[in-house]
Amino acid sequence: MEEKRAEWTNHISFILATVGSAVGLGNVWRFPYIMGKYGGAVFLFTYLFLIAFICIIPLCVELTLGKISRKDTVTTFNMINPKFKGFGWLCVLTVVLISCFYFVVGGWILQYLWLFLTNNIPENFSQYFPLFASGTTIPVILTILFLVMCAIFPFRGVNKGIEKANNIMMPALAVMLILLAIYSLSLPGAKEGLEFMFKPDFSKFDSTMVLTALGQALFTLSIGMGAILTYGSYMKQDTKILKSSYTLIGFDTTVSLLSGIMIFPIVFSFNVEPTAGPTLIFISLPEMFSKLPFPAVLGSLFFILILFAAITSGISMLETAIASMIENFKISRKKATVLLSLFISVVSIPSVFSFGIMKDFQIFGKTFFDFLDFITSNILLPLNTALICLIAGWFVKSIKKEAFGENILGNIFYFLLKFVIPLIFIGVLITGLIQV
Ligand code: TRP
Repeated sequence: MEEKRAEWTNHISFILATVGSAVGLGNVWRFPYIMGKYGGAVFLFTYLFLIAFICIIPLCVELTLGKISRKDTVTTFNMINPKFKGFGWLCVLTVVLISCFYFVVGGWILQYLWLFLTNNIPENFSQYFPLFASGTTIPVILTILFLVMCAIFPFRGVNKGIEKANNIMMPALAVMLILLAIYSLSLPGAKEGLEFMFKPDFSKFDSTMVLTALGQALFTLSIGMGAILTYGSYMKQDTKILKSSYTLIGFDTTVSLLSGIMIFPIVFSFNVEPTAGPTLIFISLPEMFSKLPFPAVLGSLFFILILFAAITSGISMLETAIASMIENFKISRKKATVLLSLFISVVSIPSVFSFGIMKDFQIFGKTFFDFLDFITSNILLPLNTALICLIAGWFVKSIKKEAFGENILGNIFYFLLKFVIPLIFIGVLITGLIQV
């Protein structure tokens, strides 16, 4: 039996769902760190410019393709031209590969939340983290637990599951983030933390900075893999695309900035060097929490916040693949969810083991985990984005009217879509490949 096409109950649910997809680990640790590293305010202005005038275009296009087709990613590209069906599957593959390392980090977050909730805080996180991550059984169980925590929602359906999850978790995330940011601003390192983030350093303006900003913008907005397209396919037909896209960008950027305001005052209150990635949230920050008053409360709040951000992104990754599986394999939503979860569980295992027993198993000089991160972020995301723009710009006649409107701005965006944006992302792709 065909599932009746779902639709978000109202505009707020649509916005919260897309914000839920966009706001994730990319906002909480990656954005603040690269903003500080690449010149603070100079990076911020470049990033805002790029996101408002460049990345807005693929974002609008993905939402519009979903809105027009009201179908999953694979069917949408098949409808444009059956030749593009394979490209639809490439988008789905991208999102599945991303989840095979994203969910491992989700498992770590669960472990840390448990440590702080039960007040079992280790003495030394720089010893604890590698020891924990190199384990076999527990990290695997936690990755699967995190996967199940995400999968419950698409399993229950778009309105009963996904919409409910976002309607509760996103406002809760906002409240926790604001509380923690206010707390951070009361710490002695607040001034230095804010300076690290916002102080303009014009000497840092170069092409690497611009490319980094572009890559970050794609990842943080979940562009280039059909996730936004899939959520767009559940929108009401009177939704305004351009306005919704700017709203999404506004929320996503606000969360990124607040995350920095939450993190850096803590970092600078203890005079440590700001670091990137896993080390920041799993070693340096937890270490500092344990030196501040009420570490259990502070740490629990922080990891619940990150957990919510990661779950709502995880849900969106799963739904992108599930929607395509339902439609193309003609199976039920429940069956699709179970099959996909089994697949991700199996492929995530070598990802988990990349920090332990499979540390020396390398593909192109990278562990399995790093390899997945590299092919998705550096190759597939820019490639897919360039192709989405080319396909929409050259093969979908109504794209200009539907995505941007018939006015001067619409004409400019349409020109950029057909000629400029694909070239930019192919440039990003080539540079990403050279940097190996
Ligand atoms: N935007 C998410 C973040 O900032 C990560 C992400 C990338 C994502 N691609 C996605 C989330 C696809 C959902 C769907 O962490």
